[in-house]
Amino acid sequence: MATPSSQPVFRATTTAPVNIAVIKYWGKRDTTLNLPTNSSLSVTLSQKSLRTLTTASCSPSYPTEDTLNLNGRPQEIQSSKRTLACISSLRTLRKSLEDADSSLPKLSSYPLRIVSENNFPTAAGLASSAAGFAALVRAVADLYQLPQSPRELSRIARQGSGSACRSLMGGYVAWRTGELADGTDSLAEEVAPASHWPEMRAIVLVVSAEKKDVSSTEGMQTTVATSELFAQRVSSVVPERMTAIEEAIRDKDFPKFAEITMRDSNTFHATCLDSWPPIFYMNDVSRAAVRLVHDINNAVGRTVAAYTYDAGPNSVIYYEEKDTELVAGTIKSILGATAGGWDGPFYEPLANVTSSVSL
Ligand code: ADP
Ligand code: DP6
Ligand code: CO
Repeated sequence: MATPSSQPVFRATTTAPVNIAVIKYWGKRDTTLNLPTNSSLSVTLSQKSLRTLTTASCSPSYPTEDTLNLNGRPQEIQSSKRTLACISSLRTLRKSLEDADSSLPKLSSYPLRIVSENNFPTAAGLASSAAGFAALVRAVADLYQLPQSPRELSRIARQGSGSACRSLMGGYVAWRTGELADGTDSLAEEVAPASHWPEMRAIVLVVSAEKKDVSSTEGMQTTVATSELFAQRVSSVVPERMTAIEEAIRDKDFPKFAEITMRDSNTFHATCLDSWPPIFYMNDVSRAAVRLVHDINNAVGRTVAAYTYDAGPNSVIYYEEKDTELVAGTIKSILGATAGGWDGPFYEPLANVTSSVSL
């Protein structure tokens, strides 16, 4: 009988970037398939500072259950329907390759071991679920040597976490709601590559690295069920903004891009406040950063910076490279010097990336 050590282990490692939405996804029309109530659009950030690193391996010698270890801790994936849905879709694709070519090793029948690490705060409103599930899907797809395109894989990543579908691509990425009930057309697509607007930069201010009280999944469900502002956001506000921001990106019109970005962050947080019970993601330091960005824009007399906040207190500020000193310099010196203000890590300016890169 073969000893465990004589059994092969197959392995693939990948990294995935975070993406920060400028038109926010907030609301599901189908919680099982993880389908959104509205389209969204994001910028994929450089992996130089924030990224998920994931290794997926499988072996006939592994114990029977699939496992996921996140940041050094085993996770309960058997109760995480969404993680299981991603794994099961990927396994089905591998199985069809094996059925078509009997010389392939039967990886689909081996237990999976997934080990992942985020080098930035997890569950703190910095899109860890986006980078996390994009990396998980990419790593298992690489392990299984699947031929599917990033667009096709985005359909799978979406089931893990909606925002994750946008992290499989670089640059400016839209997630279209889709119309079909089975969600097959609810996918990410690249609106423009990073190289289209290479002057774009982002700084990330970690105001708090704490895990949020209300997860994104739970928060958006409360909003859908209880907010009176929400219906208007979905029916008219977001569709108009999607069109306008795609034009701003096409024309590299930073003031237009910036105003839509800031307004959409504000509308999203307004629907959170309008939920019942209300949900608060931003805190006093977040609000100080909002005021500072408006002060900088007013003082300069043109819009040079745009803030946006996901479901958490941490700020992401977009600006163009030529305004680095003005924006990053001022924010660092003023917010960093405020007593009781922001003292968290400050990620250096980020450029866009072209795609998630396999190691
Ligand atoms: P965030 O604002 O960070 O995206 P969410 O509430 O949307 O916060 O999601 C956080 C959850 O995403 C975590 O509790 C975990 O279940 C999942 N997650 C985060 N990082 C990873 C990862 N690297 N691999 C798998 N799942 C992850
Ligand atoms: C505010 O993608 O984390 O960051 O699909 O339930 O996992 P689930 O939610 P998630 O929600 C992200 C919300 C957001 C906006 C965005 O990224 O578009
Ligand atoms: Co998330």
